[in-house]
Amino acid sequence: MGSPIVLGIESSCDETGVGLVRNGRLLGHALASSMDEHARFGGVVPEIAARAHTHALRPVIRQALDAAGLRLADVGAVAVTTGPGLSGALQVGLAGARTLAYALGVPLYGVHHLAGHVAADTLGHGPLPDPCVVLIVSGGHTSLLLVRDLARDPILHLGDTLDDAAGECFDKVARAFGLPYPGGPAIDRAARAGDPRAVAFPRPLPGSYDFSFSGLKTAAARWAEGHAGRELPVADGAASLQEAVADVLTRKAVAACREHGVGTLVVVGGVAANSRVRSLAEERCRADGIELRVPPLGLCTDNGAMIAAVGDLLVRAGAEPAPLDVSIDPSAPL
Ligand code: KG4
Ligand code: ZN
Repeated sequence: MGSPIVLGIESSCDETGVGLVRNGRLLGHALASSMDEHARFGGVVPEIAARAHTHALRPVIRQALDAAGLRLADVGAVAVTTGPGLSGALQVGLAGARTLAYALGVPLYGVHHLAGHVAADTLGHGPLPDPCVVLIVSGGHTSLLLVRDLARDPILHLGDTLDDAAGECFDKVARAFGLPYPGGPAIDRAARAGDPRAVAFPRPLPGSYDFSFSGLKTAAARWAEGHAGRELPVADGAASLQEAVADVLTRKAVAACREHGVGTLVVVGGVAANSRVRSLAEERCRADGIELRVPPLGLCTDNGAMIAAVGDLLVRAGAEPAPLDVSIDPSAPL
C-alpha cells in the first residue's frame, strides 16, 4: 500500500484553504478568501475572519475533493495549521480537521504555518535539498531560516524582523499611497510604471540576519504626506519602495547562504509573489552560484496544499500523530 492521501486545512488568517497531497504530489486544492470583507477596515478583522471560515470550510473541502476527483472516504490522514495565527480563525480549522479525523478514523497532524510555507515549494519542485536557507516573507513574518529535514529536524532561526513584517510594510504604505488592500499586489502593479531610483528611501540593514521595516514604512508615508495638495507620483513611490524592500531581503538572504555554505535559497510567503523580490533574488543568486527556488505563484500565499504537504512529509517520516484534543497555538514559536 502506498502512503495515504493527506487532506490539509489552513485557516490561520483570512484564507480558508484545503489541499490534497500524496507522496509529495499535489492532487487538488481549493481556496476561499474573506479579504474583500476586510478591505474597508484596511486590515484583517479577526472576528470576521473566523466567521468566514465557518461558512467556507465545508464548501472548500468539497471543491478540493472535486478538483482532485476524490471522495471524502479516500482521505487517509488530516493535517491542520495549529499556529501561529488568529486564534478564532485557527479554532475553526482545527474543529473541522478534528471532526474529519474522528469521523473517518484517520490520524490528525498539527502543522506549523511557517513549515507549511516552506513545504509549498516541494509541491512545485520536489524535495528540498538539505540544508537550504529559507526566506519567509509574508504579512505576518519576515524570517531567515536554516532548514534541514522538515519532518525530522528543528528549523534554525537565523534572523527575524525587529518590527514590521515586509508584507505589513507594503500593506501600510499602500494605504498611505491611496492604493487598495491588500497593498502588496497593488504596489507591485503600480510599480510597473515607476522609476525605482526616483525616491531614495532608507534601506535599513540591522545587525546579523535581522530586518527592520518600520523606518522605511514611516519614510514612505511621510513622502506621501509631503505631496498633500499635489498629485502623488504613486508609480515612482511604489517602485522605489519595492526596490528598497527587495534589496534588503535579497542582500541578507544571499549573505546567509554564503556564510552557511548553503547552495539553495528558497523564498516563500505572500511577498515571494512580488515581481522585484523575485527578479532581484534571481540576479543575486545567479551571481553567487546559488540555486533559487520560489513556489509557483498560487502556492506562495496562504493555502491548504502547503499544510497537506507538511502532513504528507510527517506521515512518510513515521511521525507521531497529534491527539484529537490537540490545541491551537496562536503565537507558536518555530
Ligand atoms: O503569506 P500570506 O498570504 O499571508 C500571511 O501573511 O501569512 O502573505 C500576505 C502578504 C500581504 O502582506 C500581501 O500584501 C503580500 O503578502 N503580498 C505581496 C504580493 N502579493 C502578496 N507583497 C508584495 N508584492 C506582491 N505581489
Ligand atoms: Zn502565511
